[in-house]
Amino acid sequence: MPIASATVRVPGTTANLGPGFDTLGLALRLYNRITVRRSDRRGIGITSPIDEPSRGPATAMLQEAATAFFRTAKKPSFGFDIAIEGEVPLARGLGSSVTARLGCTAALNRIVGEPLDREALFQLVSRLEGHPDNAAPATFGGFTASTLVGDKARAIRFPVPTTARFVTLIPNFEVSTPMARKLVPQQFSKADTVHCLTRVALITAAFASGNLEALRGCFDDRIHQPYREELIPQLSRVIRAGEKAGAIGGWLSGSGSTIICLTLQNPEAVARAMHRVLPDSSMHLLQADSTGLKGL
Ligand code: HSE
Repeated sequence: MPIASATVRVPGTTANLGPGFDTLGLALRLYNRITVRRSDRRGIGITSPIDEPSRGPATAMLQEAATAFFRTAKKPSFGFDIAIEGEVPLARGLGSSVTARLGCTAALNRIVGEPLDREALFQLVSRLEGHPDNAAPATFGGFTASTLVGDKARAIRFPVPTTARFVTLIPNFEVSTPMARKLVPQQFSKADTVHCLTRVALITAAFASGNLEALRGCFDDRIHQPYREELIPQLSRVIRAGEKAGAIGGWLSGSGSTIICLTLQNPEAVARAMHRVLPDSSMHLLQADSTGLKGL
């Protein structure tokens, strides 16, 4: 039965986890709420506060997501107003674009009677994003390993122990993902490739088995972080400060600018140590989200 409006909640996410470039991801207890209301006009109106320069690109992104949704769901399109509100900041490497794309398509899906299931929404949003590493944890919650196999996204999810605290430092500056992707080289040495793929296997096995102590030393990356450090010059020092204060390790969240340390003890001390290196930032002590996309 079609309804006039729907609200969903989507968690923010952290992708890569160091060497797991474009594959590993994890959902955080940091949320955006997305409300879509069917309107009599054509097109999309964004009703939540948004600064003028961002309005055009955000409308285009949502229009593309809506068009893809109506085509995939085989439903006639309609105009709507959308509000995106919550705690996931823009352009900080915490998956805000997935909260918008997944939130928009999932709310539209509810309005037209849920023709798509969660897996179909994941496929749709992964295609729109170009890589599934944020879409997977945002959809399913927990820790995910994901990639495109042929033309289909595949994700495997594991729960994250509640003892894990993700100390999240959000700098007061933005990083553009397309620009940060240009900094990643086209080719890597055998040594750097082996360094990273062995660690990605260990990180995945550690989350799969719940043995988080085995993660120590595994987040060290040679694929993207060293090259993106010019955009976030404090990156290595923030991670080292967190580790000295007791964290298991840390990484650049997605393409940045956020930096996250995982700790099993003293999250406040880890947060203080990280913040001292980059005081122009906000700190959040988060647990992993285990739910993913949720209708409200
Ligand atoms: N993995 C992407 C990157 C960001 O590091 O560029 C998240 O999709």
